[in-house]
Amino acid sequence: MTDSPPADAPTEPTLPVAKPYSPGLEGVVAGDTSLSYIDGAAGRLLYRGYRIGDLVERGTYPAVANLLWTGEWDPKHRLPTAAVPGPVIDVLRAIPSNAKPMDALRTAVSAWGSTQELPWPPTVEQARALTAFSPSALAAFARLRSGEQPIDPDPELDLTTGFLYQLTGERPDPGTARALDAYFIVGAEHGFNASTFTARVITSTRSDIASAVAGAIGTMKGPLHGGAPTEVVDQLAKVGSVEHAEEWVRDALARGERLMGFGHRVYRAYDPRAAALRKVAEGMEHKPDWLQMAIEVEDVALRILAEKHPERPLRTNVEYYAAPVLMGVGLAPDLFPATFSLARHAGWTAHALEQAANNRLIRPDVNYIGPEERDLPG
Ligand code: ACO
Repeated sequence: MTDSPPADAPTEPTLPVAKPYSPGLEGVVAGDTSLSYIDGAAGRLLYRGYRIGDLVERGTYPAVANLLWTGEWDPKHRLPTAAVPGPVIDVLRAIPSNAKPMDALRTAVSAWGSTQELPWPPTVEQARALTAFSPSALAAFARLRSGEQPIDPDPELDLTTGFLYQLTGERPDPGTARALDAYFIVGAEHGFNASTFTARVITSTRSDIASAVAGAIGTMKGPLHGGAPTEVVDQLAKVGSVEHAEEWVRDALARGERLMGFGHRVYRAYDPRAAALRKVAEGMEHKPDWLQMAIEVEDVALRILAEKHPERPLRTNVEYYAAPVLMGVGLAPDLFPATFSLARHAGWTAHALEQAANNRLIRPDVNYIGPEERDLPG
């Protein structure tokens, strides 16, 4: 406690002067990682040194998740989905059928954590168990909300195929399964994005891996992060046709709206994940009939964004082509953000392992900009 200054004392500020601060922590380095390298200027993304395009062409999601967790490349690595514990099914049954799937998934992960022993530090086994659990939980919620019973995992199927099977009751054709697996690979990891940073902050307190992932899902729920592909579908429906694109885009920007699927905090070049997914979308057997329109609308949008923001290159991001891939595999648009979260489990949990291996509590400083020290009135 300090003594109160005399009433006639000069009114110079007594609180410390603000230190430099970067809004949104843009450009601030907040850690070291061996998991992924993002070259925003050149549009390059590597997972543990391997190019994302090569991983999509030659890898599987289980192999990529294992690479992130262990650093080892084992192309034959398998990861089937895991059963949902009974108490978690009870929780999912209690969630209103009109709840957002992201809310259901976040709740399921939290409930799962309460059924597990998850001692510190997190382990690869914990990461694997949680990543294998969540697709079953989301599929169970999707079925329960439409009055259907959950389907048990088939241990013969790998994670993305198993997820589609538990969602629909049918084993997907190889092309559809491969398209969703490619989506999961590009969604698996992406540096210190907002949700991953959340997972690392939670892990840094020595909290458990389920809490880290539940928090990360909450962060990813925001439309500026994981909500975009659903909105891409809505926007393209509003555009309606290539002929209307120019007028629609100009009007939307004039209203101050953002074009979903464009812009990125790090990429100034074309997002390499968008390039990989565009290839996947074009190669799909059951592609949505609006894919060609989306490709042409993209050109119009890029031209107008370049005209409006000559100072800041705004290019296509991963979410733009995630939309047709996810539609093409038959997912309802409101499942897109939660499906993105399933894919990102590999990265979130790998970051939890990396954080724990060299832990220091994440606790930044903040500039106080409120009133000077003062007496309570009265
Ligand atoms: N459409 C129109 N204008 C945009 C867009 C966009 N998609 N993105 C950025 N801008 C404009 C902003 O309005 C701003 O203009 P101003 O300076 O005149 O206000 C300028 O570009 C800079 O934008 P910032 O908000 O500073 O860029 P930031 O790095 O914070 O944003 C973000 C990145 C949030 C992704 C942004 O580009 C956006 O909102 N995009 C649309 C949503 C989207 O596609 N999200 C998915 C991102 S990918 C992912 O999370 C996996």
